[in-house]
Amino acid sequence: GGLDAKFKAKGKKFWGSCADAGLLNKAANVAVLKSDFGQVTPENSMKWDALEGTRGSFTFGNADTLVNWAVSNGKLIRGHTLVWHSQLPGWVTSVRDKAGLTSVIQSHISNVAGRYKGKLYAVSDFFQIWDVVNEIFNENGTLRSSVFSDVLGESFVQIAFAAARAADGTAKLYINDYNLDSNNAKVQGLVALVKRVNAGGNYIDGIGTQMHLEANGAGGAQAALTALASAGVQEVAITELDIKGASSNDYVTVTKACLAVPACVGITSWGVSDVDSWRSGNTPLLFDGNYKPKAAYNAVISAL
Ligand code: XIL
Repeated sequence: GGLDAKFKAKGKKFWGSCADAGLLNKAANVAVLKSDFGQVTPENSMKWDALEGTRGSFTFGNADTLVNWAVSNGKLIRGHTLVWHSQLPGWVTSVRDKAGLTSVIQSHISNVAGRYKGKLYAVSDFFQIWDVVNEIFNENGTLRSSVFSDVLGESFVQIAFAAARAADGTAKLYINDYNLDSNNAKVQGLVALVKRVNAGGNYIDGIGTQMHLEANGAGGAQAALTALASAGVQEVAITELDIKGASSNDYVTVTKACLAVPACVGITSWGVSDVDSWRSGNTPLLFDGNYKPKAAYNAVISAL
């Protein structure tokens, strides 16, 4: 079996990749997705600007393409992402009153998470995942300034998770961020927020660490996963893995970090081939420009 099958044999739930409609038109890419990856994350098609560029008018075509492909091929889906300051239409940023913005968040989440509710029951007992909020922290662990935090303070987190729970009661609901690559101030700020929010109810199920790493940047991965799991969530995951230079050593270190932390349910690579990567100049992925496995792929397989 491929990468996903070998990872599952070690007790994990998935090794996935991002994808989207354009990438599903590339036969070589699709062949690797089918053979080696068990989960897909829409790279761009479920972001706010792609889905609701105009208030109340939803465009689901590309997101549906990804979801339908995943369901037909037995792949899990990580919905990405409901509330994010980036790839956010200007009309949202211009809503500056609490009641208005609360209603905008609730309507967006109910339409989007509601549409894909229960999509995977036919093919898996592992429920759909949503990245409910994405990249809401500064590096020092305080809340990033955005329309959401500027207007609503920290309460937007609870508003968003409550809306997602109401829209899809069985999805795993995640908070996701980058530079959570060691037990640093950002990790500690995130863990503290998760504990505060979950003290008020059943909101956040999981924490995602993106892990867009630099070369030799994997050494803190296990400590980061352990610290994130200490927030008391059901699970943690590596959600957007890519590593500058893709050394075998870095990839094996990340793989072993997830294996060593029981709460770590899976790893998602941020793409299949270097040629399609958002960091293509860094050749950060497991497959080369011809969709052939790189040395790092073989090293990960050997480590499993
Ligand atoms: C990136 C996509 O890969 C690019 O195609 C797009 O131009 C910008 O966004 N953190 C995230 C992802 O949560 O959604 C981002 O994806 C990478 C950083």
